[in-house]
Amino acid sequence: MFHFKRLALGLAMAFGALSGAQAATVTISCGSVGQDFEFCKKHTEEWSKKTGHTVKLFTIPNSTTDILALFRQMFAAQSSDLDVLNVDVVWPGVIKDHLVDLKKYSKGVEKEHFPAIVANNTADGKLLAMPWFTDAGLLFYRKDLVEKYGQKAPATWEELATVARKIQDGERAAGAADFQGFVFQAKAYEGLTCDAVEWLSSFGGGNIVDASGKVTVNNPNAVAALKTAHSWIGTIAPTGVLNYAEEDARGVFQNGKAAFMRNWPYAWSLGNGADSTIKGKIGVLPLPKGGANGKNAATLGGWQLAVSKYSKNPDAAADLVMYMTSKEVQKERAVKGSYNPTINALYQDKDVLAANPFFGSLYDVFTSAVPRPATVTGLKYPEVSSAFWNATHDVLSGKASAEDSLKKLEGRLNQIKRNKW
Ligand code: GLC
Repeated sequence: MFHFKRLALGLAMAFGALSGAQAATVTISCGSVGQDFEFCKKHTEEWSKKTGHTVKLFTIPNSTTDILALFRQMFAAQSSDLDVLNVDVVWPGVIKDHLVDLKKYSKGVEKEHFPAIVANNTADGKLLAMPWFTDAGLLFYRKDLVEKYGQKAPATWEELATVARKIQDGERAAGAADFQGFVFQAKAYEGLTCDAVEWLSSFGGGNIVDASGKVTVNNPNAVAALKTAHSWIGTIAPTGVLNYAEEDARGVFQNGKAAFMRNWPYAWSLGNGADSTIKGKIGVLPLPKGGANGKNAATLGGWQLAVSKYSKNPDAAADLVMYMTSKEVQKERAVKGSYNPTINALYQDKDVLAANPFFGSLYDVFTSAVPRPATVTGLKYPEVSSAFWNATHDVLSGKASAEDSLKKLEGRLNQIKRNKW
């Protein structure tokens, strides 16, 4: 019996090889922020065991801006070093020529994912990437400290500044000299574009470029938004914030050194981790409104997985993408890592909701998040975004007034646009 089994196994393996299903080595990049690497390792190993293929993890920089630069270099060289790549929600229009159409592999499963994200990942009828997780900007805060100082959770940026100041003054007076009111992302990179899109939008200042392609960024509400953000630097936020990305802000907040933090949902799970000093003390709110007539605005973020056109193993690579973006994997990432699923049904899953109560209470924040103007500006989005974050950084650092900087930016964006996007 035993020998028979071994023979059967041997035959099956030989048959596999003959039919062309040889084991392949697939290289994937998953990101390196928070728990990205750890989850990537676990899930790729699972797939590897199931399929007999080998997976190699490709290390990439933290910043989405640097990752895009790296991928563009690899595409230019038609490099086959990377088979599966992580794709920021603002990239499909920029890198679409270098990705494989996943339609024949997905077999319609994309219909379970948020339609807007699937549409964002589709170009010329081709499904260029499978949604992996979605993101929206959130306000994390220290519930215990807001209570300790007899304050209310803020609804407007003005209230946030007042509450942050009170807590900061109190904590500093009590001996925590480096305590901060508010931390966020203000380094000159894509993350600042995300934060500043929220400020503009919350003040009714539009979205840099409107849906028709018109440059709208130079307007009084946008000026008011940037002036407000400038007023935080060196008052409720450290000047060091001008060099903060997501992980820098999280480091300060998670060490118990800040009252408020703007960040993405992944910060929830880590902030409540066993080794976190603020475990159980974190509240999550929509980002504040820009004054009485303003609105809550969260920038839409998120990542997809795609197969490079230069991959030597596109079939195995696509199979890995389908596994990594599956309901099973998305559920585990949501429960253990607070990565927002892109599969609507998971927002009703009781384990997902128990681990992340705000996935339910702030559901609208996720479904109505503001996209950056990537679709309308297409291939030119990276230039648009970098002009915008630099103009914003100049205001925050006091190099230029909001009025001058936005006027100059308007000219620069029209130059990038020329006649059309
Ligand atoms: C997050 C978002 C992504 C965004 C980036 C900016 O990773 O998911 O869309 O571009 O942050 O730093």
